[in-house]
Amino acid sequence: MIKILFVCLGNICRSPMAEFVFKDMVKKEGLADEFIIESAGTSSEESGNPVHYGTKNRLLREGISVDGKYARKMTKSDYGKFDYLIGMESSNIRNMTRIVGTDSEHKIKKLLEFAGSDKDISDPWYTCNFDDTYSDICKGCKGLLEYFKMRGLC
Ligand code: 4NP
Repeated sequence: MIKILFVCLGNICRSPMAEFVFKDMVKKEGLADEFIIESAGTSSEESGNPVHYGTKNRLLREGISVDGKYARKMTKSDYGKFDYLIGMESSNIRNMTRIVGTDSEHKIKKLLEFAGSDKDISDPWYTCNFDDTYSDICKGCKGLLEYFKMRGLC
């Protein structure tokens, strides 16, 4: 079982988008039982709130529902519960590292690393561009699944 926590700042735009895109991707490949996939934010600002309508609507166009997802803050104990804690941008990585103390097991990654890029995923909370964010998240998620397949992990 591979346990993945996608992380952004608020857990209402990017990390739930990554959570539900990756869930959809592994389901379509018949690999859903091999993963536990969740998302969280480094801030508690949006805790308890549903997914942002921009993410919700962008994913509905792909036939992906985010129903039942409410924002939650990442905690230190998530470090023990997940194998990969994957942030969307460099500031997420800094905040995640602050929450856990030290990343002694090198579990903290940035999503587009898996697509061979050191780019950040832009925040549609500020850009209002959910299409560009969706496109980058798809690239990262494809790379992530390929990473596991190449290593025979799924
Ligand atoms: P996210 O976007 O980190 O992709 O969920 C944001 C959502 C809310 C806020 C910032 C970013 N906020 O400041 O409340």
